[in-house]
Amino acid sequence: MAGIAAVMTRSFRVLFVCLGNICRSPAAEGVMRSMITEEGLAERVSIRSAGTAGWHTGKLPDQRMRSAGQNRGYDLSSRARQVSEVDLRECDLVLVMDQQNLRDVCSYDRESQFGSKIRLFCEFCTDHSETEVPDPYYGGEQGFELVLDLLEDGCRGVLRHIRSSLP
Ligand code: 4NP
Repeated sequence: MAGIAAVMTRSFRVLFVCLGNICRSPAAEGVMRSMITEEGLAERVSIRSAGTAGWHTGKLPDQRMRSAGQNRGYDLSSRARQVSEVDLRECDLVLVMDQQNLRDVCSYDRESQFGSKIRLFCEFCTDHSETEVPDPYYGGEQGFELVLDLLEDGCRGVLRHIRSSLP
């Protein structure tokens, strides 16, 4: 019964999207979930992530991303999966990490119905001027730290947005 109540009151759904769903978007999912839980909103907000490519389906996040997240207290343990049109239909806010993600996600929106809820994550950053969350996959450790810096900044903005959107 408690489970049904939780589903009935879960009124806002956020989806984070990157390319592989093993670095940026699962980290965004972990950072956002931590903030939402701290705010006592876990029963009202659902958070998921996906990749535009399906190469890593079923895998845990990249070990470098997991370690960097763990150092800041985030448990990054989602399993990679590919985004689908159903995600776009079901979610209230779809946040993509870069312009290529934006083009790829929009290609799933074949009838151009969901454009208003698909946004670049960095629109929600206030302490950084970057317009994209750079792909850290082929770079060094610093890239993963920058990803987390941007995600922490932007997720605070997303949290404000969610609070103002909840009934
Ligand atoms: P993500 O990073 O999009 O942040 O998960 C990447 C992960 C894997 C690959 C590229 C980017 N790859 O080429 O396999």
